[in-house]
Amino acid sequence: MHKLVATKTDLFSELSDDILKAASEIDTSPSVHESPYGTIPLKHFIQSEQELAAVCSALIGDLKGLSPQERALVKNSSSAVVEADYDSIRAAIQSGLDPLGEVFSTIRTAKERRASGAVYTPIAIVDSMMAWLSDQGAPERIVDPGAGSGRFILAAGDAFPEAKLVAVEMDPMAALMLRANISVRGWSERASILVKDYREVRLPRCVGVTAFIGNPPYVRHHEISDIWKTWYSNSFADLGIKASALAGLHLHFFLQTRLLAKKGDIGAFITSAEWMDVNYGSALRKLLLEKLGGTALHVLEPTVEAFPGTATTAAITCFQVGESSNPIRVRSVDSLTCLNGLSKGMDVSREQLRTEKRWSIIVRPSAVPDAGEIELGEIFRVHRGQVTGANSVWIESEHARSLPDSVKIPSITKARDLIRAGAHLASAEELRCVIDLPSDLEVFDRHEIANIERFLNWAKSQGADQSYVAQHRKAWWSVGLKAPAPILCTYMARRPPQFTLNSCDARHINIAHGLYPRESVDDATLRGLVAWLNENINTDSGRTYAGGLTKFEPKEIERLRIPRLEILNA
Ligand SMILES: C[S@@+](CC[C@H](N)C(=O)[O-])C[C@H]1O[C@@H](n2cnc3c(N)ncnc32)[C@H](O)[C@@H]1O
Repeated sequence: MHKLVATKTDLFSELSDDILKAASEIDTSPSVHESPYGTIPLKHFIQSEQELAAVCSALIGDLKGLSPQERALVKNSSSAVVEADYDSIRAAIQSGLDPLGEVFSTIRTAKERRASGAVYTPIAIVDSMMAWLSDQGAPERIVDPGAGSGRFILAAGDAFPEAKLVAVEMDPMAALMLRANISVRGWSERASILVKDYREVRLPRCVGVTAFIGNPPYVRHHEISDIWKTWYSNSFADLGIKASALAGLHLHFFLQTRLLAKKGDIGAFITSAEWMDVNYGSALRKLLLEKLGGTALHVLEPTVEAFPGTATTAAITCFQVGESSNPIRVRSVDSLTCLNGLSKGMDVSREQLRTEKRWSIIVRPSAVPDAGEIELGEIFRVHRGQVTGANSVWIESEHARSLPDSVKIPSITKARDLIRAGAHLASAEELRCVIDLPSDLEVFDRHEIANIERFLNWAKSQGADQSYVAQHRKAWWSVGLKAPAPILCTYMARRPPQFTLNSCDARHINIAHGLYPRESVDDATLRGLVAWLNENINTDSGRTYAGGLTKFEPKEIERLRIPRLEILNA
């Protein structure tokens, strides 16, 4: 008999690249979380996906309904003998726990799961979304897109004993866990498990209301094939909405939901909240104002630690298809206990949302500047530094020794370069160089070209020509550093940003932001401003994530209040 203990969850690995890069300089390791889902030590006796598949197949029993992909996994697991305490596992599943999903999240690494956006939802969030759904009446059918081990569809099965259940999951391993959970609950007859891409799903007609509920996968557009990008923009175009191919998979799920739904259908999805502000999110914002009928938006501040160990703002979006006139209820939530069935919030008219480019400003409105203040963005544009696509190649190493000096550009490549310099970077001597070749190599002589070719062959052997960024540059080898910014700043740390006057024209990569004056600003003013910023900007002005990590997006730096320059100079 195996004792029941808690397992650690390492959920939400969907940190964007810039966060990951900046975070690599500081300790972001999550605190140990004991998820209420993980109360069985399956980890002790299930250590591979093969063994997990064997346990699932034993729990499923009758394997007749399996998809070919699940069948293949089961076949492959036949040699795995797992001596598990099946009674305890069944009891845990029946009581609403998810031991299979928990052990899966520890066997498959966060990095591997990131590729398919497999991050399972904590119970408090599932419960509050289910409470919201219960307030909307009883749906005839419930659809969980990207169901994983089935946390939403199982909770829905409990809340609505009469409803038909449809769970869509593309990963056969997850589908097996889902099937095992459904089978232990005794719901195999009322549930359909579709092991396929949600975007390919067709649903039979349903007279009553269908509710769509879940946590669509977060997969960035770099990992989405051109075929699906075309499907995305064409389908949006059919709805009269222009859509960008840069959208992530979670936005594809919103779109597909609209395509599957009929008037009166309802839903709630929890996703990363970035679409509220970014350009590619405009199609979804429009969809919610019109055809998908957004009704509420609950933004979970990163301090909530909705997904432990991650620096992510999440949003729960509720919708009712056909709703296009009532205001949308918005709310910023800073504690999971305040979710309260998603009933609270402030009503914002659709007209106001339509005119607003960034919805987070509406959810978290900031006070109007007083007469002596301006926003820093009135004087400066703030830009993230250049993404190299492969720092290990493009930041100078011994492989670059024979390259011409003219292509080795002293740059800020670590936040600590700025922290070490303090308020003033007077010399670039201590900085590392970024290799910034021009796209036209003809400007070099024969000897230089031979050395460059040798370097580029090595760079290719490191895959530097294959990164998404490299493939989208004019020439894959040309990093294209931005012009030197007179003021540089760090943007992610467990401390306020470091603002640094850049008097040696250092460039910067994307671990720092550059402040570029909109009109010329004299040196004394720049110096005064840097001193003021270092003295007055604290972590409260940015977004503080779990564990005290604070991040400032370029727009957040632009929104910082500073004294009018004449006051600063007085
Ligand atoms: C964020 S997880 C959510 C899992 C589960 N609903 C939960 O909340 O715990 C998203 C799930 O979507 C699945 N998925 C990824 N791409 C998919 C696709 N195109 N169609 C269907 N499912 C997909 C992943 O395998 C993963 O299990």
